[in-house]
Amino acid sequence: MTEIPPIPQERLPRHVAIIMDGNGRWARQRRMMRTMGHKVGVESVQVIVRAAREIGIEVLTLYAFSTENWQRPPVEVTTLMGLLKTYLQKELDSMLANDIRLMTIGQRQRLPGDVRRILESSIEKTARNSGMVLNLALSYGSRAEITEAVKTIARRCADGGLSPDDINEGVVSAHLQTAGLPDPDLVIRTSGESRLSNFLMWQAAYAEIYITETHWPDFREAELREALRVYACRERRFGKTGEQVKAEAAESASGP
Ligand code: FPP
Repeated sequence: MTEIPPIPQERLPRHVAIIMDGNGRWARQRRMMRTMGHKVGVESVQVIVRAAREIGIEVLTLYAFSTENWQRPPVEVTTLMGLLKTYLQKELDSMLANDIRLMTIGQRQRLPGDVRRILESSIEKTARNSGMVLNLALSYGSRAEITEAVKTIARRCADGGLSPDDINEGVVSAHLQTAGLPDPDLVIRTSGESRLSNFLMWQAAYAEIYITETHWPDFREAELREALRVYACRERRFGKTGEQVKAEAAESASGP
């Protein structure tokens, strides 16, 4: 069997963000309850977090629950919150052992008290870890996040602390919940749909998008490595021409 060469560090994304979709379809195909899809989906979360850490990803953001997901049947919302709580209880030791820092984006105040308490305690206990950031998007929506940022910026302008002329892209980024994190380089969406679904819409402006038909419960290390391989072959131009990008790469390779 031919060995697949490892992807060089400089071709790896710093920040991978994943829209974990298809738990319901995975379950339906097996004539199971939707909640079973979420349960097996948690196993994928465990596998992908461990693999991303081993591979050397700096930030892994997982879209675990959107602002719109509150509209799902109450039994499904309760199951998801229960799975999240159990996951956090079970994984704290592994996060500490593997130098993983837990963070969240989204409306934490909307989460049930018991989930919020364990989240806050895990965030505090892992705050000094620096091997990888595991960023869970919980009750998260990009529009809500941007709206909050606009409100804060407007208040600072009204207070006289900031001049409207000084608002630039950096100021907006610094008021988002992802402030301090690199923008996602790669957004993966499982289960075949081609949309962002209110996920990191500002931050993903230049992200490469990778869509796979695989449902989230079946998305394991081999699928992650395939997404990273495809990403490593992409040319990121950030609005420039392909020739400019190649010339810049040749210049930086030849050193100062
Ligand atoms: C989308 O599948 C998935 C979700 C809304 C929830 C994702 C949650 C988990 C994987 C488990 C909990 C997370 C953590 C971090 C422990 P869907 O239900 O929309 O699937 P469908 O589109 O096929 O119906």
